[in-house]
Amino acid sequence: MNKQRTIFITGATGGIGKATAIALAKQNYHVVIHGRNKKKTAIVCEEIKRLSGNDKIDYIIGNLFLMSEVKKVAQTYIERYDRLDILINNAGGIMSKERKETAEGVEKTIAVNLLAPFLLTELLLDVLKKSDDGRIINVSSNSHQLNAKPIFNDLELINNYNPLTAYGNAKLFLIWNSQHLAEKLIQGGYGNVTVNTLHPGAVATNFGVNSNLGGLLNFFGKLARPFFKTPEQGAETILYLATSEDVKSISGKYFENKKIKPASPKYYSQQNEQLVWDYCKNRINNIK
Ligand SMILES: NC(=O)c1ccc[n+]([C@@H]2O[C@H](COP(=O)([O-])OP(=O)(O)OC[C@H]3O[C@@H](n4cnc5c(N)ncnc54)[C@H](OP(=O)(O)O)[C@@H]3O)[C@@H](O)[C@H]2O)c1
Repeated sequence: MNKQRTIFITGATGGIGKATAIALAKQNYHVVIHGRNKKKTAIVCEEIKRLSGNDKIDYIIGNLFLMSEVKKVAQTYIERYDRLDILINNAGGIMSKERKETAEGVEKTIAVNLLAPFLLTELLLDVLKKSDDGRIINVSSNSHQLNAKPIFNDLELINNYNPLTAYGNAKLFLIWNSQHLAEKLIQGGYGNVTVNTLHPGAVATNFGVNSNLGGLLNFFGKLARPFFKTPEQGAETILYLATSEDVKSISGKYFENKKIKPASPKYYSQQNEQLVWDYCKNRINNIK
């Protein structure tokens, strides 16, 4: 069965995404990796083939800061492949201490960590629905507990920006959107597609390395790094959600260390969940 299952993973040119792609390639899945830099992604694609002995590895390029590029990524996927069993929205990261917007006018943390997975999932949902065991895995973070502080009339933190808050908020909203979608899929009769989120742990990757968070945070980040997980360890919960029969019919949950954990209840209400979902829909429609 593994041989026929197709996985699409974003941000697989390094860190946790690359470790995940290598492990899945070794298990003989058809793995489609995504990267934003063509040269780098092509090299990683060849490396994965070599390390796994699996030839069914392809790549798609796109800068996920931009919704126009997310659309192209999804279009390319749909043109090339007629099936998708597992979508792993992994690409993401923390930005720097100055607030920056994309060319489409969206705060960058929200663009890549929240709007990109929202739109990519929406555009690939029809092909996922054809799978008898479709899984959407959204890589979140325990930063949603530690750093989130949403301001519901300023979701892109125009007046209240801080990189950690922006990141924590985006990962919190990603969890809420995943719960929301899980419910919609069940209500719509698509129990064959699940959607779950996870925290991979504190992992020694490129995460935050090029983000200037400011003096003290930069300092503590470097100090803590030797105690972090390896990318392979960071990939474990994603691999569990992608491949284990145990989670086949579990949806709308948040995982840490391969176990369901309650997501932070702070700031949660059904109205807030709906508000964030509507914000994503409207924001993307306004960009289109
Ligand atoms: N590391 C941790 O401690 C930690 C903890 C909690 C959650 N996470 C989450 O885990 C996920 C993977 O992060 P990581 O630690 O593996 O970090 P990483 O080493 O920086 O890898 C991030 C991946 O995402 C890609 N990416 C980033 N921005 C992109 C954009 N605008 N368009 C397209 N691709 C983009 C990167 O591409 P390039 O190679 O081109 O840069 C890279 O492939 C992220 O969602 C992160 O928030 C990480």
